[in-house]
Amino acid sequence: MCGIVGYIGPRNCVPILLEGLRRLEYRGYDSAGIALVMNGKFSIHKKAGKVADLVSLLNAGNSELNAQLGIGHTRWATHGEPNDTNAHPHWDAKKEIAIIHNGIIENYLAIKTKLLREGHTFESSTDTEVLAHLIGVMFERTNDLCSAVRMALSEVEGTYGLVVLSTRDSGKIVVARRGSPLIIGVGEGENFVASDASAIVEYTRQVVYLEDGEVAELTTQGFQTMTIDDVKIDKVVEEITLELSQIERGGYDHFMMKEINEQPETIRDAMRGRLLLDEGDVKLGGLTDVMERLLKAKRIILNGCGTSWHAALVGEYMLEQIAKIPTEVEYASEFRYRNPIIGEDDVLFSISQSGETADTLAAMREAKKKGATVLGIVNVVGSTIARESDGGVYVHAGPEIGVASTKSFTSQLTVLALITLMLARAKGMSREDGKVLAKELASLPDKVAHILKQTETIQALANEFKDVRNFLYLGRGANFPVALEGALKLKEISYIHAEGYPAAEMKHGPIALIDENMPVVFIVPRDGIYDKVISNIHEVRARRGRIIAVANEDDREIEEMAEFVIPVPRTYGFFGPIINVIPLQLLSYYMAIARETDVDQPRNLAKSVTVE
Ligand code: F6R
Repeated sequence: MCGIVGYIGPRNCVPILLEGLRRLEYRGYDSAGIALVMNGKFSIHKKAGKVADLVSLLNAGNSELNAQLGIGHTRWATHGEPNDTNAHPHWDAKKEIAIIHNGIIENYLAIKTKLLREGHTFESSTDTEVLAHLIGVMFERTNDLCSAVRMALSEVEGTYGLVVLSTRDSGKIVVARRGSPLIIGVGEGENFVASDASAIVEYTRQVVYLEDGEVAELTTQGFQTMTIDDVKIDKVVEEITLELSQIERGGYDHFMMKEINEQPETIRDAMRGRLLLDEGDVKLGGLTDVMERLLKAKRIILNGCGTSWHAALVGEYMLEQIAKIPTEVEYASEFRYRNPIIGEDDVLFSISQSGETADTLAAMREAKKKGATVLGIVNVVGSTIARESDGGVYVHAGPEIGVASTKSFTSQLTVLALITLMLARAKGMSREDGKVLAKELASLPDKVAHILKQTETIQALANEFKDVRNFLYLGRGANFPVALEGALKLKEISYIHAEGYPAAEMKHGPIALIDENMPVVFIVPRDGIYDKVISNIHEVRARRGRIIAVANEDDREIEEMAEFVIPVPRTYGFFGPIINVIPLQLLSYYMAIARETDVDQPRNLAKSVTVE
């Protein structure tokens, strides 16, 4: 949420900042801005809209911009509407300090009131400008930028990924983290800061992950890290493996389509080196140390938000039905405020693509505090959830840039299936039964590739329904979460209202909505509850609802009942969601295309939700 990039070194940083912002735009995209220090003075440019609007503003300017010290920000608004004034960077009262900030200063009103009394005036409605003024006040006292930042932060409640520049104490960038990720990119004679590696991977692979409560001062020659109380800290420089090609569109019109099409490979990657076909077993290095605790666990709690929560719901079916372990699923955002009863016998898996979602992280910390073993199922390597958990499994889906999650969902499901099979075997499942499941898992990438060949049919379907205002998605068992996910995908990028329901719940309310204008997407594979779902289809038909069915390729019966059938291969029931969701991702993509919405950067959303 919000992208941050900064540079200090010998090069002209303007192209570095703008390219960095373009790469970070998926994190937030309602306004953007840069602050440069040129000849000892600030040159600050901010614009509501996309990074492209900022670039147009800069191109329209008369002066040549060339600076060796600068910071850039792309915003997802929390306080104050997205306009030029509220865009970052923000200044202090004397305009000697410029800051960019990701997060929320929770006590900003109290600080603002005090500063107003002292004669400060504010241009924007943001909490960030208040923080800039507070740092400015401290700077007056200390004359040292780093001390001023630390002093100001000691008065602040809330979260921040903060980057600060000054024209008075120039030659340095001061950064600080609490709750919002920041990394330092270490170069030779130059240094970078960014909210994620994609902004700087072109220039350096050596990075330092800042932890909560840490502050750093960057110069051209190096960096120094410390706590807010000025206790020096030595940090380890780590190597990132991210490839530039992974964060490019690579010939596709949209990242979302690229990521949908990557799924045969990403599902394979999630299993690579882990699935032992001959032994019908699974090896997950990140869980070895906690295996005993996992096997003794009285229950497993799966939590996450949004799409990751849907993955958790499918995981519950897998773990309870296959591994026979009592499992609960909880919205991470509700978890900690419920004061949940958690103890040492519990194991909590935090499921998160970004590994930075504020609610998921907070739930994990809450469970850890109460003595539970906390594990991560995370995509972004080195992310906070990955680093703070007791162990876990990376899903290895590669960077996901499209705001709507696609490949990370199927990789999360694949990893949940691997964990399930591993635990089931450890709890007594026979090698023969394990081999059957392992073989089925190994066949999934080809099945997904097969579904992806149907793009034209699904595009035609999208064109048929593009003007509809509401959709229902219905499924049962492990396909109920697939219905939720299909509905979420549609809402997010095409702005069509859609709801997912367990099919049998329809008659308890939503059936009132059904008429000839209501398309209903049924996920109806030939499993143990097929006949029950068919009854639900009849109920919709009887009320003239329009039926789209995601059904098995060899299912002839369904053709009689549905107006449109999207065929999918058969698979083992609890693995079905991994392939059944693919047509729903394609449907939402093509609906968005037909409605000419912004597929990769849908309105109001951001990729990584690092605020509560
Ligand atoms: C939906 C989507 C969001 C995320 C949610 C959690 O397409 O992307 O619902 O799934 O914000 O994000 P992570 O998985 O990064 O914790």
